[in-house]
This record gives sequence, structure tokens and C-alpha cells, in this order.
Amino acid sequence: MRVAVVGSGYVGLVAGTCFADLGHDVILVDNDERKLAALRAGQVPIHEKFLPELLSRHRGNRLQFSDNLKEAVRQSAAIFVAVGTPPTQSGEADLSFVESVAREISGGIDDYKIVVEKSTVPVYTSEWIRKIILRNGTDPESFDVVSNPEFLREGTAVSDFLFPDRIVIGCDSQRSADVLREIYAPLTDGSYYKRSDAIPQPDRALLPPPLIVTSTKSAELIKHASNAFLALKISFINAVASVCESVGADVNQVVHGIGTDTRIGPRFLNPGIGYGGSCFPKDVMAFRAVAREHGYDFSLLDEVMRINEDQRHRFLRKVHSALWTVRGKRLGVLGLAFKGGTDDIRESPAIAIVQALLQQGSQITAYDPAAVDHTREVMGDSIAFANSSYEAAHNADALLVLTEWEEFANLDLNRLRQELKYPIVIDGRNLYDPEVMATQGFTYYSVGRAACHPDGVPAAALKNGKKA
Ligand code: UGA
Repeated sequence: MRVAVVGSGYVGLVAGTCFADLGHDVILVDNDERKLAALRAGQVPIHEKFLPELLSRHRGNRLQFSDNLKEAVRQSAAIFVAVGTPPTQSGEADLSFVESVAREISGGIDDYKIVVEKSTVPVYTSEWIRKIILRNGTDPESFDVVSNPEFLREGTAVSDFLFPDRIVIGCDSQRSADVLREIYAPLTDGSYYKRSDAIPQPDRALLPPPLIVTSTKSAELIKHASNAFLALKISFINAVASVCESVGADVNQVVHGIGTDTRIGPRFLNPGIGYGGSCFPKDVMAFRAVAREHGYDFSLLDEVMRINEDQRHRFLRKVHSALWTVRGKRLGVLGLAFKGGTDDIRESPAIAIVQALLQQGSQITAYDPAAVDHTREVMGDSIAFANSSYEAAHNADALLVLTEWEEFANLDLNRLRQELKYPIVIDGRNLYDPEVMATQGFTYYSVGRAACHPDGVPAAALKNGKKA
């Protein structure tokens, strides 16, 4: 099938590339000529596993890049809209990009077309898209608007797209549902998974994925409610972690105990420094705003946001309780991205913490496996950048772990301790076992677990694991 994807951001680029891998002919449309030129020249604008392979497999063949939306509409059976929906000052989603794309799409409709919402949008957006297209003189029989929310996570976006837990299609006509079914058929009939060149199957995938057909409004709500619920799960466990700290319990044990209840499940129960990224903070606010607009006061979501914000302050208080004063102290930082596996620093809690510590007069040397370039664009040379975790730790008064990169969890602790001026680690992501850290000679602070000190030895008296 021939499809167009409008917007070459995270969702659009991954969706377009994966549709090509499913065997469709894809036109990826963007109005940013520089971005298009970079994509045509073989550059991969985001750090995403398997994306470089799939882009080079399909670029110039099944995957074309264009700035001509009308022409792409004419050539395609379905047009996926994956443009940005940033938050306004009051927290609502700004839908002006979606509206202008809808207006432009109307000019290219010359035959039956399906306009698919792929961006995260509030309920009623599909009705607005329909109104805008009709207002521009399009025949009502010549198109349908469908909601097909995307659930991919940054860092595992390609696997999430091709091995989804489910595919949701919200549509109000049989005809449009049939076209969407056909587009996803290689996944839902399992044929994609039999291919020798399919990307490797992730651990948890239940194949083939179910296709859930709903009304458009329900599909729009499924997306907002999914993200809000996941954010709620994270804030819930962060609140439980705070109680654990107060009473001397271990949040990891609590997570194991509650997560094994199949009704709760273990995923998205990792306590930390709060959720960040381009989705949860924006979507929780937008869902709160859209509920209010339609007469429901979803104040539960205010509490989710408040706990999330508070989590950073709690971490900063931990840094103070470990170091007393921070002015003039040299702090090593591991992780700048909003989570492991990505170079994205949008709404990164790690960046917020680094900025707060800078304001308080600390000197920061940070390392991140992928996010240094983006951080430099935002923070210039207000912090120093290291080429490895050990270099970030070198001669530091303490080491702060802010992003859950796998490579941080596998560091040589002996070497790390030798690099540090004082063996103090303040871990916002619970990457290490407190007992192991204490045995290795560290004073170790984490989230929802008691602070650990090397047995009977005051932290400041320890150097290289031995008494000074
Ligand atoms: C999220 C959703 O997980 C995707 O399903 C959704 O498609 C996407 O938003 C979107 O709407 O586009 P993403 O923002 O890429 O994906 O990242 P997540 O893996 O969900 O992590 C979000 C934040 O929560 C990160 O800062 C992460 O460190 C934090 N987190 C996650 C925790 O603190 N604890 C956890 O247990 C899980």
C-alpha cells in the first residue's frame, strides 16, 4: 500500500521507516528542507536502535522524502499525521500544526483517502480535523479520519513499533477500518515475524499482536489514559519510596512484592528522580486540561505531577545531606538524557538537577553515552563533559547517577572508587546493590532504600577502600 507520513520527528520517522519495512511504499513529508536533505544524504537524526539499518534498507526505494504534502496525499491511500503537539502555557496541547496539515491535506484529496492521527492528541481532535477538511471544500464521502495512537518508547522505538503489545485503531467507518487492517496485516497475521530479515524479537513480545478497533474518541482517550496511567504508576512508586525512606523499608523489596501481583505487574515501578521526556510531562498536563474542558476535575493528575516535581527536590536534599554544602564542590554526573538508551534531553530530570546544582555553585563534570551533544547545545560550557564514567568520577567529591543507562550499572566499582576524591555515590536510579556498595567502600545513597556506609568506617576516612 502507498502511505504518506507527515512529520519526520520521532514518531513519524520511526513509523514511516517501519511501514516501509512492512512492505509499504512510504512518502515521508516534512517542511524542513534541511532535515529532508540530511535524511536523503543518509544521516540518522535520532539515536535509535535498528533505525540506521532500516533506513539504509529502504531509503530511496520504499521510503521517499518530500516537502510536497499535496502531491504525497494524491499518491497515498492513507496519510498519517505525526506532527508535534507541544504544550501551551496553560498545559493544553497546541494543535495548530495538526490544523495546518489538515488544511493542506484537503487540497490534495482527489479520491478516497484516510487521514490518520498518529500524534498524541486530545479527544475530539479527529472531529476537528474532519471539520477543517470539510470547511476547505472537500467532499464528505471522499475521506475518513482515523485515530491510530502510537505507543513506542524512545530508545526501543523500532522494536516497540514492530512488536507492539497491541495496535489500536479508532474509526467510525468499516471502510477505513479495513484499510488500516491491511496496513498492519504483516504484523497481525504474523507474516512479518517469519521473515529472516525481521529485526530481533524483544523478550516480552506476545505475537501476533491484537488489533483493537474502537471509536475514534475512545482511541484518542486510550493514548492519553495510557500515558497518564504509566506516569501515575511512576509517581505512585516514588511516593512509596519516600515512605520506605521514612520507615527504613526497602522499595525494591516492596516493588517485588507488589509487582508479582499480576493485576499490578512489575513494569514502570522503578523509583527514581521522576519521569521526564517529551511525552509524559506534556501528556499528563494535556489530559488534565482536556478533562477540565469537558467538565471533569481530574485532580488525581495534579498529584501525579506534584510528586514527580518533588522527586527532584528530594534528590537534591539527598545531595545536601551527603555533602553538607555544595558550593565549590566538584560533582561527577552520570547521565543527562531523560532516560537510558536515548540522546533526548527534553524535560530531562537529570538536566534539571544539574542546573539546580550549578545555581548552587557546584562544578559539574558529566558523562552520557549519547546525550552530550544535545546537552552542549543547551548548556554550553557551563559544565565540563567527560568521555567516560571514570573520567566524570575523577577527583570528584561525589558521583551522581541520574540516568538509567545499562553501562552505568556495569561499572568496575573498584576503579570508580579509586577515581573519586571521596567514595560517595548518590544514585537517583537505584542501579546498585547497597550492600555491595558498602562492601566496596562507598557511602551510597539511593531512592527508597536506607543509605549505606562502609562497615563502621566514616566515609571521609576512606580512600581507595582502605582507611586513610
Ligand atoms: C512514553 C511511553 O512509555 C510510550 O508508550 C509512549 O508511546 C511515549 O511516551 C509517547 O507518548 O510517545 P518515552 O517517553 O519514550 O515513552 O519513555 P518511557 O520509557 O515511558 O520513560 C518516561 C520517563 O519515565 C523517563 O524519564 C523514565 O526514566 C521514567 N521512568 C520510566 C521511571 O522513572 N520509572 C519507570 O519505572 C519507568
